[in-house]
Amino acid sequence: MNHSYFSSSIGRKQIVAATGLILILFILGHLAGNLFIYFGPEAFNHYAKKLAGLRPFLYLIEFGLLGIFLIHMYFTVLLVLENIKARGQTYRLKKDKGNPAWATKWMAYTGTLILVFVIYHLLDFTFTDHHGPRSMLVDGQSYGLYGVVYNSFLNPLHSFFYIICMIAVGTHLSHGVESFVQTFGFNHPRYTPKILKFSQCFAVVVTLGYSSIPIYIFLKNFNMASGICH
Ligand code: HEM
Repeated sequence: MNHSYFSSSIGRKQIVAATGLILILFILGHLAGNLFIYFGPEAFNHYAKKLAGLRPFLYLIEFGLLGIFLIHMYFTVLLVLENIKARGQTYRLKKDKGNPAWATKWMAYTGTLILVFVIYHLLDFTFTDHHGPRSMLVDGQSYGLYGVVYNSFLNPLHSFFYIICMIAVGTHLSHGVESFVQTFGFNHPRYTPKILKFSQCFAVVVTLGYSSIPIYIFLKNFNMASGICH
């Protein structure tokens, strides 16, 4: 890989696609881990502890992920700027689905929201006291990270924000898989439409999977408050 690879449009697209794929793997793994919430505080905290037990190796993975996230964003910004320069009139774009520049623009919007979300999310769950008042439920006992997540989603506005962001993640992923297929030239009359269909289903599963967590906590709390479930 030489310097011209990084400055060529196709080279940049391949870097964005490859780093995007790694981020998708993280999103899937993270979703699987978060679903432990359905098995109660013990199971969820046990999973979080097991993960924390992987340190210092985990720091390496986290720094790696951060690097990949930054590279993904950096080359995306270069591509968007290149696109704007080439067209010089993005404001006149038609909003039709077949318009690749519109798709790029849409990716930029959802991508920016995801960036804002990740910063907010880290402050919300990672860089917070996992054993302080935010981890305590109605009995005044600390439920660790489970309690922090539970209490966060008791706020409907906060949950709503999360769900909007999860829709952005799903849309971004669906389009990301599509671009990946195009960028690496997998073009087959029979398989490409199937891959695209798969990317859409996959995005819906990711969006619903993540969104189900705030909805579940809201309903669980609502049922407890109204005495339907104890
Ligand atoms: C309802 C949805 C989600 C829930 C309940 C959730 C939950 C959590 C929790 C509890 C942590 C803290 C882990 C710890 O400190 O041990 C965390 C960290 C993190 N989450 Fe999420 N998450 C959600 C969605 C997402 C999404 C969609 C993304 C990416 C776009 C994401 C990216 C991250 C990252 C980068 C970290 C820090 C990594 C780490 O601490 O290992 N999360 N999440």
